[in-house]
Amino acid sequence: MAEIVITESAAAAAQLGADAVQALVAEKPDAVLGLATGSTPLPLYRALQRRVAAGLDLSRVRAFALDEYVGLERGHPQSYASVLLREAVEPLGLDGGAVRVPDGSLEGIETAGARYEAAIEAAGGIDLQVLGIGTDGHIGFNEPGSSFASLTRVKTLTEQTRHDNARFFDSAGEVPMHCVTQGLGTILRARHLLLLAFGESKAAALANAVEGALSASVPASAIQLHPRVTVLVDEAAASGLARADYYRYAWANKPRWQGL
Ligand code: PGA
Repeated sequence: MAEIVITESAAAAAQLGADAVQALVAEKPDAVLGLATGSTPLPLYRALQRRVAAGLDLSRVRAFALDEYVGLERGHPQSYASVLLREAVEPLGLDGGAVRVPDGSLEGIETAGARYEAAIEAAGGIDLQVLGIGTDGHIGFNEPGSSFASLTRVKTLTEQTRHDNARFFDSAGEVPMHCVTQGLGTILRARHLLLLAFGESKAAALANAVEGALSASVPASAIQLHPRVTVLVDEAAASGLARADYYRYAWANKPRWQGL
């Protein structure tokens, strides 16, 4: 069962997420983070940035991105390598050499997944994986139909995802058709999952993921199989949850020694 924490705002959720990262790094300064892109993790990265400015040292942290587009030229501003550099590596003072993104270049794409899996394994696995959720229930770019056992591989984006992500590009047609994404099986191997969801548009996907049946049709429902999941949501994203009152009650009465 996931722990679901309903907060008054994305900013409040981000503070809790930053607490989890800070606690991990205090214990393990070279912790391995799994980093998500998109709009959802930005409040978390901003909260961490403020802590870095106040003295938190993330320079030894290692990180793996969740996914990357296939076929964008190196340095394309919307490649996830560029996005992560801008939104996480530079503002958080991470060591860019210790932050890896799946290789989305066409040359060698057949082995990109296996190479990425090997790199994660060599790093000792991911300690804390940050996740957003797509309106179609995807995590990473594992679109509906993805196997719960899948590892990093090339996937075809749904029309819905390409439409959702068109806002980052000049036109919808420019959104790549393919991606390399950590699989659901890869994500489930991380030691702690931190799933963030904000806004009404995520309410249905979130409710299906945490309260619906386990199904490849809702890839995010795979998190129900993980022993340590923290779901941080605002009121709007929580609006479809049937057991919201219980989650609030459990959070309000949580033994503080447990942490997140
Ligand atoms: P978003 O995307 O954070 O930009 O809403 C989430 C996702 O597609 O996983």
